Amino acid sequence: MNKLEELRQRKATIQMGGGEKRIASQHEKGKLTARERVNLLFDEGTFVEMDAFIKHRCVNFGMEKVDAPGEGVVTGYGQVDGRLVYVYAQDFTVVGGSLGEMHAKKICKVQDMALKMGAPVVALNDSGGARIQEGVDALSGYGHIFYRNTISSGVIPQISAIMGPCAGGAVYSPALTDFIFMVDKTSQMFITGPQVIKTVTGEEVSAEALGGAMTHNKTSGVAHFISQNDEACIAEIRQLLSFLPSNNMETPPVFDVEDDINKIIPELDEIVPENPNKPYDMKKVIELLADNGDFFEVQPYYAQNMITGFVRINGGSVGIIANQPKVLAGCLDINASDKAGRFIRTCDCFNIPVLNLVDVPGFLPGTSQEYGGIIRHGAKMLYAYSEATVPKITLIVRKAYGGAYIGMCNKELGADVVLAWPSAEIAVMGPEGAANIIFKNEIGKSEDPQGTRTEKIEEYKSEFATPYKAAERGFVDDVIEPSVTRPRLVDALNMLQSKRETRPPKKHGNLPV
Ligand code: HXC
Repeated sequence: MNKLEELRQRKATIQMGGGEKRIASQHEKGKLTARERVNLLFDEGTFVEMDAFIKHRCVNFGMEKVDAPGEGVVTGYGQVDGRLVYVYAQDFTVVGGSLGEMHAKKICKVQDMALKMGAPVVALNDSGGARIQEGVDALSGYGHIFYRNTISSGVIPQISAIMGPCAGGAVYSPALTDFIFMVDKTSQMFITGPQVIKTVTGEEVSAEALGGAMTHNKTSGVAHFISQNDEACIAEIRQLLSFLPSNNMETPPVFDVEDDINKIIPELDEIVPENPNKPYDMKKVIELLADNGDFFEVQPYYAQNMITGFVRINGGSVGIIANQPKVLAGCLDINASDKAGRFIRTCDCFNIPVLNLVDVPGFLPGTSQEYGGIIRHGAKMLYAYSEATVPKITLIVRKAYGGAYIGMCNKELGADVVLAWPSAEIAVMGPEGAANIIFKNEIGKSEDPQGTRTEKIEEYKSEFATPYKAAERGFVDDVIEPSVTRPRLVDALNMLQSKRETRPPKKHGNLPV
C-alpha cells in the first residue's frame, strides 16, 4: 500500500465512526450521526476537521484492544452564514460518545482556538458521560472543559445542543454555556438517573419525565429551546447565531431591512383593552414592532409571565424583555426574574440593545414566593439592568407599579429612553389597593362606604394611574401614540448606537445568584 492510499484508508475508517451497524442503530433512534449534524451546521463545504487521528491511551479493562475512531468526538471549524464557528460533536457510535482524556483534549483544543479567534463554539452533546474505564482521567477532562466554558463566558457565544444522553456531571458544561437546545424525545439531561434515584430515594420516574426536553424547557428552565428533531435543532442553532456577534468586541450582524422602518401601525392603538384588568397578548405587540413580524423567542415554555427573545428592528438585533399580561397578569415571580435576569446579561455580554415592554402589576404575592427567595431572585433583574451598558429602551405599555416598575428598568436603573403609551399607569400600587390605604378614614366614616371607595378609586386613577405624573418629572421622556412606536424605536436605536458607558474597575460584581 502506498502512503497516499494508507492515508485515504485511515481517513475512510475514521469517517465511518463506530461502523455501519452502530450508525444504523443511531438512525433507528431517530438521531443523526455526529458527522451528519456537523455537515448540516456549516455552510456547504466549509467544515474543516481537526484532530481526526487522535487516539486514547487507556489500557484499563481491555481498552487497549478498543479502536475508537476519532476518539468519539468530531471537532473542527467552518462557516455559518459566512462567519467562523467552531464545533465539537460527540459521536455516540464510538464507545457511546463517552468522554476520556483524549476526547476531552480534542474539545479543549476547539475551546482554546475559538477563544483566541473570537468565534462561537457549538457543542453537540450525545454521550454516555465520563468513560468509565478511564476513571479520574475522564473526570479531569470534564474539569478542563468546565474551566474553559467559564473563562470564555461573556467573550464568545457558547451554544450547547443535547441530542442524546447527557448525564451526571457532564450536564455542567452545557449549563455553563449561553444557550441549551434539546431535541424532543431523543435527549435527556440529569445529574442522577432514574436507577440511582430509585435506589437512593425509592422514587420511580422515567428518564423522559426526569430529564427530557420538555421537562427542562417547561419545568426546570435549564434548557432554552426544544427542537422537533436533529435537522430542526441545527437549523435553529444557525438562526440563533444570526442574532449574535462572533465575540464581545463586535456587534451582531445587521441585515438588509425589507420592512418599512417608518411604518405607522394603527393596530397598536387598539391593542390594549379599555378595562385595565383585561389581558391581551404581548407577543402580538412584539411581532407588530419587529422587522417582518419575526420573533425568535427564548425559553418560550418557561415562566410564561415573562417573555424573552430576539427581534430585529431596522435590521439589527434587539433583545426583548416583556411582561405577558395573559399569564399571571404579567406579575414578576422567582422564575420570571431568573429568566429575565439571565437574558438581560446575555444581551449585555454580546452588545445587543434591550427593549423592555412593561405591563406589570407587581410581584406575585405568597409564602411560596417569599420562602423561595423572591427577594434574592428579583434582585437579579435589578442587578442585571443596572449593570448592563448596552442601549436600554423601556416602553411602558400599561401597568408599571411599585418595585416591579423599577425591576423592568425605569430611568433610574439606566434606561436611556423611556417611552409610554397613554394607557400607561405608573404609580406605587394599583388604584384599588392604594385607595383602600390612603382613603381609609374617608371610606370608614362615609355613610356610603362603597360609593366613597369607588369615587376615591376614580380620583386616584385619574390623578396617578397615568403616564403624565412620571412625564412631569422626566422619568418618562415622552408619551407617544402607540401607532408611531416602530419609527420611534428605530430612531431611539439609531440615536443610541454610539452609546459609551463605563463602570468603575472591579474584579467582578457580586450578582445575587
Ligand atoms: C464507557 C460507555 C459509556 C461510558 C456508554 N458506553 N456509556 N462506555 N463509559 N460512560 C458504551 C457502552 O458500553 C456500549 O458499548 C456503547 O457505549 C453504547 O452504549 P449502550 O449502553 O449500548 O447504549 P444505550 O442502550 O443507548 O444506552 C445509553 C446509555 C448507557 C443510557 C448512555 O450507555 C449508560 O447508561 N451509560 C452509562 C452512563 C453513565 O452512568 N455514565 C457515567 C455518568 S457520571 P458496546 O461496546 O457494548 O457497544 C459522569 C460523571 C461526569 O459522567 C463527571 C463530570 C464532573
